[in-house]
Amino acid sequence: MAIPPKNALYFLLLVSSFILGAMADLALSCPSRCEVELQWTLYARQIGGGANANQEEMVHSVHPTTGFGTIVVNNWDVLDAPLPNAAIVARARGTHTKAGPAAGDWFTSLSIVFEGARFNGSTFQVMGITNTDGLWAIVGGTKELSRADGTIKHTLLRATALENYRQLDIRAFYTPPAVS
Ligand SMILES: *[C@@H]1O[C@H](CO)[C@@H](O)[C@H](O)[C@H]1NC(C)=O
Repeated sequence: MAIPPKNALYFLLLVSSFILGAMADLALSCPSRCEVELQWTLYARQIGGGANANQEEMVHSVHPTTGFGTIVVNNWDVLDAPLPNAAIVARARGTHTKAGPAAGDWFTSLSIVFEGARFNGSTFQVMGITNTDGLWAIVGGTKELSRADGTIKHTLLRATALENYRQLDIRAFYTPPAVS
């Protein structure tokens, strides 16, 4: 059936305004990527020596009084409780560098690599100063934890000559990839 020219134009306008309307709806509708907040308390176990050591001094300082310049590589366990038999949730892999004269002047750069049921294979990229207590910044993340930012408040809970437990209060926002 032939459409008269005037009606054809009207039809065209109707169709194009419908398409434009649909596009506007798409742009204004809830995005498929949504930011999520995470608050989670975990515990890092740092073992300085012995058979189970999970860090190693790689660069030795030439400054015996301050240790300035020491670089230690670490693969700390991140646990769901501050106990030796707690479940491993992640590993804190990276280095800490003695970057100042005081005892707590350790610049720390970590990938926190998750390996449990939650966030398996995802990471937080973390940096900051490791004193007895303090804050690290979450500066990014991967996979489920993409576009992460936030902070990790770290507090020394218990320390012996060989090892210690640090409470990690994670507060972050991240944007999981779209699931469509
Ligand atoms: C985590 O992912 C690895 C590699 O894909 C897989 O082998 C492992 O079973 C997963 N672990 C859990 C707890 O899902």
